[in-house]
Amino acid sequence: MVSGKTVLVVGGGGREHAIVDALSRSPQVGKIYCAPGNAGIGKKATNVPLKDTDVEGLKAFAIGNGVGLTVVGPEAALAAGIVDAFRAAGLRIFGHTKAATAIESSKEFAKEIMAKYGVPTAGYRSFEDFDEALDYVARRPFPAVLKYDGLAAGKGVVIAADKAEAEAALRSMLLDESFGKGKVVVEDFLTGPEFSFMCFVDGDRVYPMPLAQDHKRAFDGDKGPNTGGMGAYTGLPFISDADRSFALENILKRTASAMVAEGRPLSGVLYGGLMKTPEGIKVIEFNARFGDPETEVVLPLLESDIYEVFSAVAEGQPCAEPQWKDRVTLGVVLASKGYPGSYEKGYVIEGLEDVDAHVIHMGTKISDGNVVTAGGRVLMVVSDGEDIAAAKEKVYGEVAKIRCSNLFYRSDIAHIALEGK
Ligand code: AMP
Ligand code: GLY
Repeated sequence: MVSGKTVLVVGGGGREHAIVDALSRSPQVGKIYCAPGNAGIGKKATNVPLKDTDVEGLKAFAIGNGVGLTVVGPEAALAAGIVDAFRAAGLRIFGHTKAATAIESSKEFAKEIMAKYGVPTAGYRSFEDFDEALDYVARRPFPAVLKYDGLAAGKGVVIAADKAEAEAALRSMLLDESFGKGKVVVEDFLTGPEFSFMCFVDGDRVYPMPLAQDHKRAFDGDKGPNTGGMGAYTGLPFISDADRSFALENILKRTASAMVAEGRPLSGVLYGGLMKTPEGIKVIEFNARFGDPETEVVLPLLESDIYEVFSAVAEGQPCAEPQWKDRVTLGVVLASKGYPGSYEKGYVIEGLEDVDAHVIHMGTKISDGNVVTAGGRVLMVVSDGEDIAAAKEKVYGEVAKIRCSNLFYRSDIAHIALEGK
């Protein structure tokens, strides 16, 4: 008989591995399940073969296995209404309702909220009609920022350099309905360094996490196609305390209050994808969940008991301000060659036991007793340090110990911080 609380984590990527790691450090947690989990998660949690959007299956599992708290990773599960279904069954769950998840799942809704409550963001207009959209875009400066209104697994944003590119993107989104039927939001093009500001949010209560920066492009020098994120670090030198306070008050807290006023209170993580533009800090996007790979570098800094934070938010109760270590972290993603395009799976990974750093599994599985590649992003190696240069040197030294013939990684994570831009 296990003593302590039983927790179910929904999802199976690097973000969920980081959540499971954080929960496993809680003295209150006795047993962790993860659905579907992965090979790395399986070392600290029991993997459960259920899809993250199988709401009925997950609910039945939680009831049948004495789960006292469920923590949701992916937006697809939130948008599928997992929180509403669990709450209706009297189950405690950390994550937003379907209505609140609209802050991520509908770009148009997010833009309307920001406009209504004065949250700084790029100017925009939304369109349903292809000809009207193209006409509008053609009369404005390029590049044009085109965003599909719904969830599109990170592929719904096109920065079109000229009219031909814009036309192709609008055709795909509005005429071919590549992501389904939906509008397109056309935004002003902003410039400046991007960063991620995640907060635990329970209605009006906002508990900030350390800032992080993702690296979305596949190759060094921010070249190549957009990916889910190739690495991240904390301790951003280009965001001052004043910038952070501005963003906390005028973006994160204002949006949390707006969602309360709209009758869609938040009860999970609000992720601000922000940009430091020459005109100040503005919102590029909101997510209704932990960022990936940001979570993998942020949660190792948490000194407080994450179970306390998750349960307080799940219950709508206040909790003590979470405490964070005064260190920085840096993490490098190892991805399958070909990612984010097509790639092969099933390559054996060796040397993991020699790595003296956090090894986060993003897309792995066990096959014939070996850890093998099973996704586009496969592993992330994370370490902390006194400063970014130290953390970077440590991580790349450890990454070099991992042997697999089908993985690649960026060698310049944190370049913006280290170049002093
Ligand atoms: P999103 O999925 O909304 O975060 O967009 C993906 C990426 O497109 C962002 O990380 C930015 O690099 C870029 N992007 C989105 N919106 C804008 C904008 N208004 N101006 C410039 N770049 C943008
Ligand atoms: N790192 C970007 C995201 O989680 O959406």
